[in-house]
Amino acid sequence: MTTDRPVIDPSARLFPVDQPARLDALEAAVRARSSLVPEIGIVLGSGLGGLADDLADAVTIPFGELPGWPAATAPGHVGRLLLGRLGGRPVAMLQGRFHLYEGNDPGLVVQPVLLFGRLGAKAIILTNAAGGLDSSFGPGTLMAIRDHINLTGQNPLIGPNADEMGPRFPDLTEAWSPRLRARLHAAAAVEGVPLAEGVYVGLMGPNYETPAEVRMLAALGGHAVGMSTVLESIAARWAGLEVAGVSLVTNSGAGYSGEPLTHEEVLAAGLEAGPRLARVIRRFVADLEL
Ligand code: HPA
Repeated sequence: MTTDRPVIDPSARLFPVDQPARLDALEAAVRARSSLVPEIGIVLGSGLGGLADDLADAVTIPFGELPGWPAATAPGHVGRLLLGRLGGRPVAMLQGRFHLYEGNDPGLVVQPVLLFGRLGAKAIILTNAAGGLDSSFGPGTLMAIRDHINLTGQNPLIGPNADEMGPRFPDLTEAWSPRLRARLHAAAAVEGVPLAEGVYVGLMGPNYETPAEVRMLAALGGHAVGMSTVLESIAARWAGLEVAGVSLVTNSGAGYSGEPLTHEEVLAAGLEAGPRLARVIRRFVADLEL
């Protein structure tokens, strides 16, 4: 938009102690455009972008116009923050997200969910595209996230802590809220949409897994695997937000089908199943009591 934006290095180290001042600037930039106080923040993964079109009174801010945020680069992710009403409820949405595999620092990867909290959200919903580790989870399966395994080798909470935001050693016993998960199942039942449940394994990417890795991750207790979500949930719990999530399984894990995986197949399955997930989330948001 402007030519005087500072050059952004998305890999620059961003410790928890750096987040409050960064969030001050982000909050001010958002508040210059919208006074809406979201109750819920929603991260839209691949295929779910259509939910943004359902937003009433939407204010849209491209990532590149927010201080410290690079424009999103992952194919299939447009990269914008939206505020508006979904099913009558005030929400914030992230269409696109920052991934580790793009070279982003873990502190930047989690900044959008911290911003949701700063803007007033009490709960967040994380969605993603994922590969199925459970052999019964074929393309199009929707999986409520019960728990996760962080195998990214990264953590957004490394470095000096910001004690005013969250504890040094956050508890993750209920990282994924049982209460919100029950509401997700209730919303899916009302909509007549099948919703499975399982453990999401987060890897750094960007390559898809080898067949041996897929077998290992399944043996470790994973049901779906992807390249996002785990760091966001860690930071959100640190900051006291309640977290729910759904994986859209776009493909069976590498090696199960005997065919190579392609990004195009992932996007196509996302487009097919995305509207079903959108219905569940719309219902969940409309009926949620916070
Ligand atoms: N592996 C990792 N991430 C993914 C996959 C997968 O098979 N499908 C969609 N995102």
